[in-house]
Parts: sequence; structure tokens; C-alpha cells
Amino acid sequence: MTRGVGRRVPIAKLLETASVGNAVEVTGWIRTSRFSKNVSFVALYDGSSADTVQIVLGDETDEELKKRLGVGASLRVKGEWVASPGAGQAFEIRAQSIEVVGDCDASSYPLQKKSTSLEYLRTIAHLRPRSKTHQSVVRVRNALSWHIHKYFQDRGFHWIHTPIITASDAEGAGELFEVTAGDKEEGFFGKRTFLTVSGQLEVECFAQSHTDVYTFGPTFRAENSNTPRHAAEFWMIEPEMAFADLDDVIALAEDFVRTVARNVMDQLPGDFAFFEFVRTKLEKGPSLLEQLESAISQPFARVTYAEAQEILAKVDRKWEFPVGYGTSMQAEHERYLAEEHFQRPVFVTNYPRDQKAFYMRLDDGEQTVSATDLLVPRVGEMIGGSQREERFDKLVEQMEFHHTPPDDLWWYLELRQFGTTPHGGFGLGLERMLMWMTGIHNIRDSIPFPRTPGSAEF
Ligand code: 4AD
Ligand code: MG
Repeated sequence: MTRGVGRRVPIAKLLETASVGNAVEVTGWIRTSRFSKNVSFVALYDGSSADTVQIVLGDETDEELKKRLGVGASLRVKGEWVASPGAGQAFEIRAQSIEVVGDCDASSYPLQKKSTSLEYLRTIAHLRPRSKTHQSVVRVRNALSWHIHKYFQDRGFHWIHTPIITASDAEGAGELFEVTAGDKEEGFFGKRTFLTVSGQLEVECFAQSHTDVYTFGPTFRAENSNTPRHAAEFWMIEPEMAFADLDDVIALAEDFVRTVARNVMDQLPGDFAFFEFVRTKLEKGPSLLEQLESAISQPFARVTYAEAQEILAKVDRKWEFPVGYGTSMQAEHERYLAEEHFQRPVFVTNYPRDQKAFYMRLDDGEQTVSATDLLVPRVGEMIGGSQREERFDKLVEQMEFHHTPPDDLWWYLELRQFGTTPHGGFGLGLERMLMWMTGIHNIRDSIPFPRTPGSAEF
């Protein structure tokens, strides 16, 4: 239940708990207002609920005050909670006093009813959290983050704060933002440093001391791909377990996604009804809620990379990128597998070693690694994970194969010399999961202030 702080009562709490006849006080911003001769209506929101609360003003309301009750103005309202005779809401507030806390010039307010395309809203990122879509995105993002922490905390995983500045390229992909401090020649840290692309290498140290751990923080990649699924700054959750193999990693990822998604949907039915409404209005295909419900109520699918390539090669369709063993899976292939072939989330496992990072464990035969990606409808890759190479000699060999100098990661190698364990984990892109759950197509609309090539205005 939503609790209030001080005198203000969140609108969500009022809607849940107020009784007819209660004296109530709310604060918020005007979504819409309608005036007529005898009676006027103001719809107020405060971020706590997908619903607005209706304020009713009688004919005694001052004309000068009415002029100030336009969209965007901030108000403090005192009144009585009454049953509503109108359609659309069961209760409303009969206003006794209205204070305009901050005026809003409706003629120059950038957030007009008609101009709310997601593209336009990106140009007013300071005001877009007031739009209906972003009101809901923010609540779902908040609930998702909370339920992710709760999932791990309930199961004894320790949250490890891994560094944001690091000297290692954890993914070996070279997509690094360099960190400098002025023009010191030897560098602030005495070596070249970067914003982290992943906390995995560091969190592995803690799996080798606390068994079950996770990171939850911002991650940075200088990926110059201007796609709807890539951001230069995104949030990643990386659980890591000692004494675990690839099957354990997959079992955790599946239970985690299904449990967290269920809990978030249960917490915010109003917001999911909104996203369902938007999708049904704009798009064909299965409804968002049908898709989510069916995804989380049955086991996910699982195939090897080799099987997945066979499936793709048999499809009669002109792919933009080639398919077949050895090719790298692109978004179009990932989406086909999850959306059309399996019609549910699917784990793809055992990718060729040259397609994946140096730390992944070599399978028998040494052609593939114990990796897995979780592909979901509409989004493609939502999770990437693996069992890690815990054998010292094999890890050195993997590093050399991937041109990652073993000397730079001497400390990572030492974990394999002093009480090594089979271990593994995965990385979940928070924004990718948000896109999957809300139906939002562009990652720029899932994060408060997106950082993408050419974009850091706010
Ligand atoms: O597959 P990735 O690169 O895996 C890792 O970083 C591992 N260290 C994870 C681990 O095993 N601990 O990234 C993990 C996930 C992807 O599946 C995707 O959801 C997300 O992070 N991701 C991005 N999200 C938004 N923008 C980008 N540029 C992303 N790159 C990866
Ligand atoms: Mg990946």
C-alpha cells in the first residue's frame, strides 16, 4: 500500500483507502481541465498512480482562479471525498480550497495533448516524465528494480558494488570510454582506465568468497550502433554463483525472469493496462499481456546454437544477414526464433568460441563455449551469460585465442589458482527487460536520460 509523508496523501493511496466524507488534501499537476457554467473539473496526477483524481469545483469558483487552472499547473487541493456521479471514476474530490502552487502558461507549455509522440518527447526529456507513457515507464522501471533486488535478497545473494572506473575490458570487445583527469601524462591511476562495460570480472572475486552475489549498476559501451536496442549507458544486473554450471545459470535466469515479471505485473495493474491499451491500439499480433502471461506461465525453450542455425537455415525468407553455422546471430534471427518459431523466450546455448568472450568455459571438443543468450519476442537478446572457464590453463589459452593479454588480468587468473570452483552467471539489461514488459520499441524511451551517439543534452 502507498503511504503518505506529511500532510500530502498520494493519489494512489486516496484511491485505495479514502472513505466518502473524509477531508482530504492532495498535491499534483493538472493533466486536463474542463470548465462549464456551473461546474468545472480538473484531473490531477502526482506520479503515484496510473489514474488521475478528479477535482470538482462549484459555480462559486473565482473566474481569475479558473484561468490559472490550465494543463501543467501545480496545485494543492483541500476538499471532501465524495461519490462521483460521472462516468470514469467512482469517487472525486469536492474542492473546498485550491492553491495554485506554480502557474503554467498553457500557450507555451511544451507538453501539449496533441504533441506527445515518443520522438518529440525525447526533445523535452526534462518534462516528459509528466507524459502518460513516461509516468508509467518510470513506475515500472522502479518496480522492476525493486523486485530484482528483492528476488536476490530473498535468496541470499549479496549485492556487490563493483567499480565504475576500471582498467580492464571485461568483454574484450574494445567498446571502451576512456577516463582521464586533466592532462597528467602518467594518468590519474598510473594506467589507462575506462568506464566499466561489465562488473562481471570483479564480481567473480566475490562469488569466490561469498558464493552467491550480484551487481546492479550502470554500464557503459562506446558501441557506435545507432539501434533501437543499444544505449551507451545502460543498467545491468549480473548475478554470479560459485559451485554452479551452465544448467544452474539457465535455471536461475528462467526462474528470475518469470518471478520478477510476475511480481511487477501484480504490483502495477493500472500501468500494464495502459501499455496493453497502447499496443492494442497501434499494433497487430498477440496482445502484450497475453504474450507476457504465456511467457511466464510455461517453461522457456532451449536450443543449442547449432540447432538454432539449422532452424534458421530452413526458413523460407530473405534475411538481411546470412544464416548457417558460424554466422553471428543478428536481431532479425533472434526475434524470429523467439517470436515466430518458439513463440516464447528461448535460451540459445553453446555458441562457437570465436563469437563469445574470453572468459567463457570451453566445451568438450573446444569448438564451442558454455554460453547462453536468452532471446525474447520483440526485443531479441535480453540476457547474456555463461559458465566461466575455471581451469587455469584453459583460461590462459582462451585469453590468447581472444587477444586478451593474460598479464593484464593476473588477478583474475589467480582466482583459478587458489581454490577455484566451477562458476557462472549472466547479465540482464534492465532496459531490455523494460522494453519486453512494456512493449516500448526504442531503448531511448525506457531510461530517464538516454545516452546514445550524439545525444547527451539533458
Ligand atoms: O551479453 P553481454 O555483453 O554480457 C555481459 O556483459 C556479461 N559480462 C554478462 C555476464 O555474464 N555477467 O550483456 C548483457 C546484457 C545483454 O544481454 C543486453 O540485455 C544488455 O546487457 N546490453 C545492452 N543493453 C543496452 N544497450 C547496450 N549497448 C547493451 N549491451 C548489452
Ligand atoms: Mg551478449
